[in-house]
Amino acid sequence: MSAEHEDEGARARRWSRTNLLIMQAAARLGAKAEPLSQARTDFFLRLRGEGRSVIISKTRSPFLTQVAQTLSNNKKVSRELLAAIGLPVPPDLLLDEGDDPRGAAAQGFLRRFGAVVVKPNWGNRGVGVTPGIREMEGLARAISRAQAIDRDEEALLEPHLEGTNVRLTVIGGRCVAAAEIVRPLLRGDGVTSAAAAIAALNEDPRRGSWAAPALVAMDVIEAEEAMAAHLEALGLDLEEPLPAGASIEITSEEAEVIDRSDAIDRAWFEVAEAACARLGVDVGGVDLRGPLASFVRAPRGGAEAWREAAILEVNALPALHYHALPTVGAPRPVFEAFVAYCLSLPGAPGPCAAIGAADDQRAVNSG
Ligand SMILES: Nc1ncnc2c1ncn2[C@@H]1O[C@H](COP(=O)(O)OP(=O)(O)O)[C@@H](O)[C@H]1O
Ligand SMILES: [Mg+2]
Repeated sequence: MSAEHEDEGARARRWSRTNLLIMQAAARLGAKAEPLSQARTDFFLRLRGEGRSVIISKTRSPFLTQVAQTLSNNKKVSRELLAAIGLPVPPDLLLDEGDDPRGAAAQGFLRRFGAVVVKPNWGNRGVGVTPGIREMEGLARAISRAQAIDRDEEALLEPHLEGTNVRLTVIGGRCVAAAEIVRPLLRGDGVTSAAAAIAALNEDPRRGSWAAPALVAMDVIEAEEAMAAHLEALGLDLEEPLPAGASIEITSEEAEVIDRSDAIDRAWFEVAEAACARLGVDVGGVDLRGPLASFVRAPRGGAEAWREAAILEVNALPALHYHALPTVGAPRPVFEAFVAYCLSLPGAPGPCAAIGAADDQRAVNSG
């Protein structure tokens, strides 16, 4: 057997960080998380406890519907539903493969907001996102990049929002933890290439990989995968020196994950709960953007509220390890909450994966 094959075999026997954390949490609760099948797969676990047995798929509960997943994956459609109940979402523009990326709509959007972000409408993990676009050629390239990745060749344009990234995690309808996700920034000095800057970031022992798995918060950054197309959209190259003054966010990675569970205003927790309930997402990660100061007080109401802090999207299948393994602050028992919810353990919320539950009409943020 070649070294390469041994490597694959060893990899196949390992569990992902998420499944390891689920297994540990189950054990702490006196429950069990076991492989579902003889064929080892990271996609499923069987949870047993309190006389119940359920099947989960990573952080998907046994109750989550395919419709809710598909709905939350469609940023444009799900935002429309969130806006309808008064939640703050940014204005946006959807361009599909039939639309001219240099057309009047795109030009008008760029003029109106000055700086825009382009992302695949059906995107995940920050892949294909180009932030901070200020001119037409870059916008056209970013649109093509997003469309090439998107499932339906749809690119979503939205204003570039200043501030930081806040992740609110909802389990069984209850918001249980908050984290600030700080993205790595590549700062140009006219000498160092993006590839070299990423290699330096990868020296951080808090980054793990499949080859060197560890229960750590962050992953090793694959330079080519994370940044080659992003830089190309900006007219730059991975191996060339980044121009002095350039500041480029790696949208698919983290520099710090800071627990903010005690700091974020409880009214924002209610926003996250309402957003998830609206979309039928029982275990969700709500991505928000704005200055941290906007999240330590209650959200403002009104049509312009998104300018201060906005919901970017709701993730079904959320990364829960942000809260269990923050780089700064206290770990939060989100995996325990997840296992307890999936098994309906005493005290856990009941299944709540119906789309647009009664909570819909709750007047959140309607001031
Ligand atoms: N409107 C925006 N303004 C500034 N940065 C943004 C904006 N939208 C996305 N980003 C950056 O891209 C990341 C991923 O965006 P998100 O909308 O959550 O897409 P994905 O589905 O890929 O996770 C954000 O965490 C942020 O770093
Ligand atoms: Mg996101």
